[in-house]
Amino acid sequence: MTLPKVELHLHLEGAAPPAFIRRLAQEKHVDLAGVFDAAGNYVFTDFWQFLKVYEAACTVLQTPEDFHRLTLAVLEQSSQQGVVYSEAFLSPDFCGGGDLGAWREYLHAMQEAAAMAEARHGITLRGIVTCIRHFGPDRARATARCAAETAGDFITGFGIAGDETAGHPRDFTYAFDMAREAGLRLTAHAGEWGGPQSVRDALEHLRVERIGHGVRAIEDAKLVAELAARDIVLEVCPGSNVALGVFPDWAAHPIARLADAGVKVTVSTDDPPFFHTSLRAEYDQLSRTFGWDDAMLRALNLTAANAAFCDDATRQKLL
Ligand code: ADE
Ligand code: ZN
Repeated sequence: MTLPKVELHLHLEGAAPPAFIRRLAQEKHVDLAGVFDAAGNYVFTDFWQFLKVYEAACTVLQTPEDFHRLTLAVLEQSSQQGVVYSEAFLSPDFCGGGDLGAWREYLHAMQEAAAMAEARHGITLRGIVTCIRHFGPDRARATARCAAETAGDFITGFGIAGDETAGHPRDFTYAFDMAREAGLRLTAHAGEWGGPQSVRDALEHLRVERIGHGVRAIEDAKLVAELAARDIVLEVCPGSNVALGVFPDWAAHPIARLADAGVKVTVSTDDPPFFHTSLRAEYDQLSRTFGWDDAMLRALNLTAANAAFCDDATRQKLL
C-alpha cells in the first residue's frame, strides 16, 4: 500500500540506526561497551536498561554537525517508510546540556538538515522540544526555556519523555506553563509505565492535548470515555510497547479496544531501531492482528494529520 504516512511520535536520537552510532563512536574513540549485542543491535532487557543504553548511545552525538547527520539519516529512513510528515522529539539535554546558546546552534543544524531532507525526499519535519522526566524539574525548566525561546514554524511543540515512574507531573507544571505561554502545543508521555492515574495527572497538571502512549488508560473505563469525549489524541506505539513488555504480545495490545471506544488513536514507532520496527511493520501488524484494512489505516493518518502540531497550510497538504 502506498499510503502517505503521518508520524507524530519519534525520538530523534532513538531513531538513530545502530551502524550510525557505531560509526560516530569509532570516529570519536568512544567506548560503547554494553550498548550493542554481537549482531550489532542495541541490547537491553527492560525499559530502565533501555533508557541507560539510549543515553549511552547519545554520548557519541557531540556536535551540531553530528545532529545534522543524524537528522538527515533519520528522515531518509522515515521517507523510505512512506512518511511525508514527521514530528520528532528533540532533547536540548542531549544538545549542549540545556544551554540556550548551544541549543540554538544544534537547532540550526537540525533545521538545515530538515530543509535538505524536504528538498530531497519530500518529507516535512516539525520539532517537539522534550524534557526528560528522570532528569528532574530544574533541567525541565531549562529545556522549556530553550523551547520557548525558539518556538516558531519549526519548533511547534513541547513534551516530556523518560521514566514515567520518576517524580510527578505537578513538578513539571512550571515548564509546561512556560511552553504554553510561548504558543507551543503540548504532549506528555503517560500511561506507558504508569496506570490511568498517571494519564489523569498529565492531563490535569500539564494540560496537554495529546498523550504519548496513553495505552494503559484501558485499565479504567471512565478514563477511556473521558479521553474520547475530550478528543485527547493518543500517540500509540504498539511495537515499542510489545518490545518493552508493557503488553506480552500484539494480540494483548489495547489499541483496537481504545479505537472502538471512540478514542482518537494514531500510530508511531517511538525508537524504531531499538524495537526492530518500522512504520510499515507497525501497519502490517495492525492489519494482521486486528484486521485493520486500508480504510482504517487511512483514517488513522487523517487523525494524525488533524492532531499534528503544524500550521494549517502544512496540514492542508496532509489531508
Ligand atoms: N524515550 C525514548 N523512548 C521512550 C519511551 N518509550 N518512553 C519514555 N521515554 C522514552
Ligand atoms: Zn516516546
